Amino acid sequence: MNLLDGQKPDPQELLQFKSQDILSAEQFSAGEVEIILRTAAYYEKQLAAKKRLYDMDGQIMAALFFEPSTRTRLSFESAMCRLGGSVITVAESAASPTSSTAKGESLHDAANMVNNYADVIVCRSPMVGSARIMAAAAEVPVINAGDGIGQHPSQALLDIYTICQEKGGVEGLTVALIGDLKNGRTVHSLLYLLSFHACRVILVSPRELQMPQELVERMRMKGMMVEVAEDLSYACREADVLYMTRVQKERFESEAAYNQVKDRFILDERYLPLLRPRSIILHPLPRLNEIATSVDAYAGAAYFRQARNGLPVRMALLALVTGNVR
Ligand code: NCD
Repeated sequence: MNLLDGQKPDPQELLQFKSQDILSAEQFSAGEVEIILRTAAYYEKQLAAKKRLYDMDGQIMAALFFEPSTRTRLSFESAMCRLGGSVITVAESAASPTSSTAKGESLHDAANMVNNYADVIVCRSPMVGSARIMAAAAEVPVINAGDGIGQHPSQALLDIYTICQEKGGVEGLTVALIGDLKNGRTVHSLLYLLSFHACRVILVSPRELQMPQELVERMRMKGMMVEVAEDLSYACREADVLYMTRVQKERFESEAAYNQVKDRFILDERYLPLLRPRSIILHPLPRLNEIATSVDAYAGAAYFRQARNGLPVRMALLALVTGNVR
């Protein structure tokens, strides 16, 4: 069976997700990830056929974003609209407050209220564990769209979806995660999902920004082959998938500390001759200067295709947790 052939999974397989919160990539089994990806491929096929969908007709998604976002919020909103549902949104940052959370209302109280206004909540906040707090306060399903340096499970799902689409699967690949592995929530989530596959992972970061040791140990215990490196050329020569990340400026205590590490890994056209044939380059975006724009023309530069996959993957998540895949 081809995982992404667009066939809808059996109703029984779909139903197990109903009312689940999506908080961390750690919560999934390999089988669950597979069903989510198959559901996403089903929706991608519907989108390609320009089908008008009513799976979530009459339902409302609340997007509560207390940190900046472009792709994640808009693709969740677009996903809900494409499913025939409606969207209500709070999008604010400390610099431009709009909701009562900015007045000091707790996340618990906010979620408790929004629970009355929506059928599913998608939330992002700078605080690790914030989605869990909101999920405890809301009866409707809560999807974590990024909790500080913690987790970003929907991103990891679309990353795996993209790898499967571009490379035909994850088995046997060498995947290099590059950049700010300490503060990057996307790589924290992705590492869990990679651990379901027999693949080799190379972690490339400045010494100050290494993947949390505890997470690395946990993956090794699961049998993952994990290597730590500090050299981008080495990663280019070895990897089938290069996953670049932004140095997370907003998590640094000082501008000076950020400036010390921000330009450590810049993938530009000089590295292209080192790449393995058919290797791909991913990035959760936004990019600053980690990938030079001159790399965009490389056939394996897949980061914009990756961002596009956010739509079907988030359609799948919304419809699954509300029990609405029709
Ligand atoms: C990432 C995030 O917010 O964690 N972006 C995203 O959701 N696509 C990565 C980042 O901001 O660097």
